[in-house]
Amino acid sequence: MSGKYIKNLLCIGAGYVGGPTMAMIASKCPQYRVTLVDINHQRIDEWNSDRLPIYEPGLDEVVRAARGKNLFFSTDIENNIREADIIFVSVNTPTKTFGVGAGMAADLQYWEKTARQIIACSESSKIVVEKSTLPVRTALAMERILNSNDKGLHFDVLSNPEFLAEGTAIKDLLSPDRVLIGSRLTDSGVAARQQIVDIYANWVPADKILTSDVWSSELSKLVANVFLSQRISTINAISAICEKTEADVTNVARAVGMDQRIGARYLNASIGFGGSCFKKDILNLVYISKSYGLDEVADYLHYVVKMNDYQKERFVESMLQAMFNTLAGKRICLFGFAFKADTGDTRESPAIYIAKRLLEERADLVITDPKALRNARKDLAGGGDHVTYIADPYEAVSGCHAIAVMTEWDLYKSLDYKKIFEKMIKPAFIFDGRNIIDHPRCFDIGFNIYPLGKPPLTHLE
Ligand code: NAD
Ligand code: UGA
Repeated sequence: MSGKYIKNLLCIGAGYVGGPTMAMIASKCPQYRVTLVDINHQRIDEWNSDRLPIYEPGLDEVVRAARGKNLFFSTDIENNIREADIIFVSVNTPTKTFGVGAGMAADLQYWEKTARQIIACSESSKIVVEKSTLPVRTALAMERILNSNDKGLHFDVLSNPEFLAEGTAIKDLLSPDRVLIGSRLTDSGVAARQQIVDIYANWVPADKILTSDVWSSELSKLVANVFLSQRISTINAISAICEKTEADVTNVARAVGMDQRIGARYLNASIGFGGSCFKKDILNLVYISKSYGLDEVADYLHYVVKMNDYQKERFVESMLQAMFNTLAGKRICLFGFAFKADTGDTRESPAIYIAKRLLEERADLVITDPKALRNARKDLAGGGDHVTYIADPYEAVSGCHAIAVMTEWDLYKSLDYKKIFEKMIKPAFIFDGRNIIDHPRCFDIGFNIYPLGKPPLTHLE
């Protein structure tokens, strides 16, 4: 017990997951003191300021309501570990870039450092909760490290993977499809699990709080991302067939998605999925499968990523072909740079690959995005004078030969395309990598339209 709070909750790692998740817990559970710590001091300063380090609709309000009351952001990791009853670990677990498993396996160095720091600073037994996405059976390694302490302390390691999507994080946290909590099935494990159930039960209906063994919980997180990304790669593969056969991928997705067994979501053809997790989590599972000698399983899963790479390259090649096989010296405006709408995050954004390929073809790029220009500048730092960044889309298109839609921001659906057409070099092209623009209308204005998975509308024949 700690004064007016029934428990101290700590989250190590104040990123895209730790920040919104713990802010939601704090706002729904005033009886808990919730603290986030991070080694990145700038991030903590921003969490304590009026300009939060991440853009997420609704996040400002949730943070503002709880910050300074029962929600705190700090760089003092040691003292906060000492005082915590329950520690959520939400550090990054990127793909390893070196040594064994490079390019495939999860890099667990940040994860392991937190485990060592937890033992070094703890003076009482604690519950440690994996919030990061981790290879199945990571909890075992965590338990071994933590319980190797010589202070007589006991640590229960649980898995509580996060399923929120960026751009809808607050909505997803407020009414999740499910909350999953995995533990050892020992008395101590089950009792620890109940403590986490008790937190979520403050706002999540009981039938949506799922408990399981720890390995199934860890694996379910990876599997959910495999299913979602596999749907996107499948519809993107179909978009290529549509382009050859004059079928329309939107009509196909609608027809297929009305089958209740299939469902309508995650069937939007695109330039490929991005984001920090889909690719890394699939590759992680590919690596795990290979390490168990399940080569056929690994190959099957790996194709989800290979198809995604193919789709990005296919998009660039269709631009090249449509624009008379040369992009050198042409000015192309990228509409959006974030990996999806309603976020400023550009991690693994397909726009990065496409921009770099267009630069290789010696095009000049103008990048516009309502929230992601700061990250875009970092991603394309090597582009020099060949890349400019302009927030206003009307200004951005001035003197351009083509627009390529990278991100499905609502903003791009309702622009005045007549005004835009007038500012562009003719023949003017739109390559709609998200199928969000009114194609017949823009064709009537005079544009040559290249959607994904649909016949082009062109004045050029
Ligand atoms: P992130 O990079 O935004 O945040 C991780 C934070 O951890 C960083 O701020 C980093 O400085 C901090 N950190 C690293 N090592 C630390 C240490 N030793 N002590 C204190 N802080 C440390 O990453 P994220 O997007 O929040 O993802 C975190 C985890 O959640 C990953 O495993 C990811 O796969 C998973 N996940 C992410 C999402 C998402 O939408 N981004 C959704 C579900 C699950
Ligand atoms: C995804 C999952 O949806 C979350 O459940 C999961 O928690 C998270 O990964 C994670 O583990 O990090 P996120 O990557 O934030 O969330 O966003 P999504 O909405 O899933 O979109 C991922 C990518 O797929 C985006 O580039 C998006 O534009 C693309 N996408 C999505 C499509 O191309 N077509 C679709 O139909 C849907």
